[in-house]
Amino acid sequence: MPEAVEIFEVGPRDGLQTEKRPIPTADKIALVDLLSRAGFRRIEVASFVSPRWVPQMADGAEVLAGIARAPGVGYAALTPNLRGYEGARAAGADEVAIFASASEGFSRANLNATIAESLARFAPVAAAARSDGVPVRGYVSCVTDCPFDGPTAPGDVARVVAALRDLGCHEVSLGDTIGRGTPEAVDAMLDAVSGEIEAAALAGHFHDTAGRALANIDVALARGLRVFDAAVGGLGGCPYAPGAAGNVATEAVLAHLEAAGFDTGLDAQVVAQAAALARGMRSG
Ligand code: HMG
Ligand code: MG
Repeated sequence: MPEAVEIFEVGPRDGLQTEKRPIPTADKIALVDLLSRAGFRRIEVASFVSPRWVPQMADGAEVLAGIARAPGVGYAALTPNLRGYEGARAAGADEVAIFASASEGFSRANLNATIAESLARFAPVAAAARSDGVPVRGYVSCVTDCPFDGPTAPGDVARVVAALRDLGCHEVSLGDTIGRGTPEAVDAMLDAVSGEIEAAALAGHFHDTAGRALANIDVALARGLRVFDAAVGGLGGCPYAPGAAGNVATEAVLAHLEAAGFDTGLDAQVVAQAAALARGMRSG
C-alpha cells in the first residue's frame, strides 16, 4: 500500500484573495464544487477577515452557503479574531484557522498587531472553537524569510509553533509566504520546529516564487510531514506580502507526490479541470 499524503487545497482562499477584480460569488462556488469532486479531504474556501483589508474575501458566508457540501470533505476558513470566528461558525465552517507570523514586520502588515498581540487575539478564538468542538488549524507565516525583516531565525518559528500548539491547534501549517526559502533553510527551520511538535501535526505551505516549492516539499517529506497546502492553477499570494507569488500548484504537487510513490487520493483529471477553471479566474 502506498503511503498517503494529503494535499490541503487552499485555492479558493489563498489562491483568490489577491485578485483585484471582484470575482463573482457564483464563480467561487463553482470552483469549490468542482474541487469537492476531486477527492480532497479539506478545502479552504473563505476568510472571515476585515473586508476593508481583503475585499475579495468579503463574501465568505455566501460562498459557504452556496456550495454543495460533499460528504467527507471539510470546508475551512481563516478567522483572525473572535468576530471572524463567529462569522465562520454561523456560516458552517468545519475547521477554522488562526494565522500568526514568525516575523514582527509581517505580523504588523498582515494583522496590524505584534506577534504577541495576535496570539492574545487568537486565544478566545481557540477557546470558543474548543467548546464548540471545531478543529483549529494554526498558520505560521514567513518561516524562512520575511518581506520586511529579511531572513527568519528558526528559533522564532519554533516559538510561534509552540504557542499555537499550546492554544490547541491540531495542526500547524508552516508558510514560506514569499517563496524565497531554500531547501537548506527549510530543513534548518524544521529541525528547530521538531523540538516543539511532531511532524504528524505539521503541514507545509510553500509559495513558489523562486521555483523551489517542490524541492522544499521533498525536504519536508524527509522530515516526516505528510500534509501540504497547494492551490489549483498555482494561483495566489498574500496582499500584505510584497513579492509573494502563487502558491505551489496543486496539480504539480499531485504529480510530484504520485511519481514519488505516495497516494494523494485525488482524481488528477478533476484537479486539472479545476486548475483550468482557477486560471481562468485570474485577472492578469
Ligand atoms: P484592524 O484595522 O487593526 O482592526 O485590523 P479593527 O478591529 O480596527 O478592524 C478594522 C475594520 O475591520 C473595522 O471596520 C472592523 O469592524 C472590521 P470599520 O470600522 O473600519 O468599518 N473587522 C472585521 N470585519 C469582518 N470580519 C472580521 C473583522 N474584524 C474587524 N473578522 C484585522 C485587524 C485582523 C481585522 C485585519 O488586520 C485583518 O482582517 N487582517 C487579515 C489580513 C488577511 O486576511 N491576510 C491574508 C491571509 S494570511 C495569508 O495569506 C498567509 C497564509 O496563506 C500563510 C502564508 O502563506 O504564510 C495563511
Ligand atoms: Mg499563503
